[in-house]
Amino acid sequence: MIFVIPASAVVIILVVLVLMCMCRKKKTPTHIEGVPPSPILSTSSSISEESIKMKKKKFTYSEVTKMTNNFQTALGEGGFGIVYHGYLNGSEEVAVKVLSQSSSQGYKHFKAEVELLLRVHHINLVSLVGYCDERGHLALIYEYMSNVDLKHHLSGKHDISVLKWSTRLRIALDAALGLEYLHIGCRPSMVHRDVKSTNILLDQQLTAKIADFGLSRSFQLGDESHISTVVAGTPGYLDPEYYRTGRLAEMSDVYSFGIVLLEILTNQRVIDQNREKPHITEWVAFVLNRGDIARIMDPSLRGDYDSTSVWKALELAMSCANPSSQRRPNMSQVISGLKECLTSENLMRSKKQDVDSDSSLEMTINFDTNVFPSAR
Ligand SMILES: *[C@@H]1O[C@H](CO)[C@@H](O)[C@H](O)[C@H]1NC(C)=O
Ligand SMILES: *[C@@H]1O[C@H](CO)[C@@H](O)[C@H](O)[C@H]1NC(C)=O
Repeated sequence: MIFVIPASAVVIILVVLVLMCMCRKKKTPTHIEGVPPSPILSTSSSISEESIKMKKKKFTYSEVTKMTNNFQTALGEGGFGIVYHGYLNGSEEVAVKVLSQSSSQGYKHFKAEVELLLRVHHINLVSLVGYCDERGHLALIYEYMSNVDLKHHLSGKHDISVLKWSTRLRIALDAALGLEYLHIGCRPSMVHRDVKSTNILLDQQLTAKIADFGLSRSFQLGDESHISTVVAGTPGYLDPEYYRTGRLAEMSDVYSFGIVLLEILTNQRVIDQNREKPHITEWVAFVLNRGDIARIMDPSLRGDYDSTSVWKALELAMSCANPSSQRRPNMSQVISGLKECLTSENLMRSKKQDVDSDSSLEMTINFDTNVFPSAR
């Protein structure tokens, strides 16, 4: 039946297609200023819109050189290249990740991250300001996060003040909201695959944002093909079930998030061969068996926390890090758990505040504004 379509119809279809292509090419320049595409094209324009967005954010290598003042200040080094400090338009601070050339894996990582970050926008995800892809020069330009990352803050290196328990909970909640967005807020849904305390960045106000989407994988629900041959992630944070089966799902991020929660609570290394139990989950379980929560908590908190809140958080962390993915909560459940922890902690604070009548402003923790991110 397929073969009996009249030739004239085929010709007409071809002509229409050619005309449509020509139209789109001609119209492209008018879209650059952010004018929405014309109604006729709008149904099929998601791809062209995307490419226009990408053009807007594309920088030349000489712009990148200028931005970073000839790569003067390195902020750190990641697996795929060095991150430099820079200024956009001489004012807005940015972090510029320059990818090491040549490695084809680096290029894949680069493309994945650009495409993904141009698609997702959330207050708890580090946003991409722009990128450079010019004759082998690859760079990603991100918003600058002045308070580095969670790991850095917990380590107590440099003279930064110890993060209070309530602040730690708020950071965890921010990160959880970012992950929940990846899992259920965007289409297709996404698995981060490398959640860890060095990938939770902190801005000036200590708002947490998830970074480094280089390993992220998007997959459609019902697609059975997301079994990868290469298991990727960071030792210690890697979901043992994913490691065993190669089967990737949101629950792998939940596992890694549980490990981060344990770090927030204990400030212990995730893997430490000199400890009674090298892995943090085993160590926490081992110490808890002896009954005392104070022994697992970060000593730099000096016991300044509500024990109900801490117990809840600990339970939550251990259920996230359950070896069986079916027993783990999903990110929405994690978020409500963390909110309960915060409520409990704040309640304790306000009671304490009533007791010491000279209440300080610092005590009022307004977490409500952070709970509901405006930019989804
Ligand atoms: C940089 O400044 C120019 C001119 O002032 C402006 O048009 C442009 O939007 C600015 N770019 C960014 C990314 O802020
Ligand atoms: C998370 O788990 C709860 C309880 O099992 C369930 O009601 C909810 O639909 C789940 N959310 C998602 C996004 O899977």
